[in-house]
Amino acid sequence: MTPIWFMRQAGRYLAGYRKIREKHDVISICKDPELSARISTLPVEILDVDAAILFADIMLPLEGMNVKFEIKEGVGPIVKEPIRNSRSVRALGDLEPNSDVPFVLSSIKQAKKRLNGRAALIGFAGAPFTLASYLVEGRASRDFAKTKALMYRDPEAWNLLMEKLALAMTSYLRAQIRAGADAVQLFDSWIGCLNSQDYDQYVLPYSRRIFNELEDTKVPRIHFGTGTSSLLKSMRQAGGDVFGVDWRIPIDIAWERVGHDVAIQGNLDPAVLLADFSFVESRAADILRRVNRAPGHIFNLGHGMLPDTHPGNVIKLVKYVHGLTQKQIRERGS
Ligand code: CP3
Repeated sequence: MTPIWFMRQAGRYLAGYRKIREKHDVISICKDPELSARISTLPVEILDVDAAILFADIMLPLEGMNVKFEIKEGVGPIVKEPIRNSRSVRALGDLEPNSDVPFVLSSIKQAKKRLNGRAALIGFAGAPFTLASYLVEGRASRDFAKTKALMYRDPEAWNLLMEKLALAMTSYLRAQIRAGADAVQLFDSWIGCLNSQDYDQYVLPYSRRIFNELEDTKVPRIHFGTGTSSLLKSMRQAGGDVFGVDWRIPIDIAWERVGHDVAIQGNLDPAVLLADFSFVESRAADILRRVNRAPGHIFNLGHGMLPDTHPGNVIKLVKYVHGLTQKQIRERGS
């Protein structure tokens, strides 16, 4: 049976989540292990997905490194003093997960208890490039001009920034694994703005450091990005056991690029879930046809669930993917 979960499966499209959000903002939920664990496990109860992902934000651990930010409704993270030179890079502190993000580790422990083995719990961190993009731009960006300017103009400052982020995210993910995470995902959500040459030079060494350092934990490592069709071979070099891809590349072509000796995760366009279920079913069937029963596919979206998604469609999709792939196993066995 093909396992299935969704990025942003605990979010605004769920009434239960919206109700909690009426009283609490995102960051206070993340800092309240009881609430965070409850929201993390909500989709397992409602959707019957095979994994829960920790309810947190990629910016959360940066607070422990002296970064001040807020999350603005409909905009995303806003960094109060963006990092644009080596002085501000040097001012970034180290991350001590046990003292800086104890609430994240408690949320993991509580979520594990709530799940009680029913589904896996996925921990996560932002990849150095995607975190650096928020730190340098100060907010979401279209062209990543300030990030690239720092990268091209001051490689020394860039390298130090990436080094510090790689080190911090390694200890952050290690702490999550120690707390009980069954798998971890590194979100390099905005990496698709680079060509492979720049990826190899300015990003790959740092993401690779994180994956290498986590190797001995034996916990599956998911490497995710969007717009990565020309980067997949390089991302494979950086590391990971599972590669998360978006809908811009057919999943069979993506899998060929990373190699069939690793697993693939994806890749339904989240916007497809805004259509009627018959359309959702045809697009899900196309993904499964391309995967052609090869072992090592985790069904997911190509990026996060959209706020206007109808939960009924999502429940049907989980049933459809589970049902069809279970039938395929029975047929293969007989
Ligand atoms: O979906 C929701 O409404 C959940 C609440 C929320 C989160 N972060 C939790 C989160 C909100 C409103 C944010 C703010 C935020 N942080 C945004 C804007 C979201 C929006 O549409 O208003 C953004 C882009 C960030 C930065 C961020 N956080 C990135 C780039 C990622 C990696 C995943 C991705 O979408 O590319 C995150 C991770 C994140 N934030 C998670 C959650 C629960 C975990 C990942 C997951 O659930 O799949």
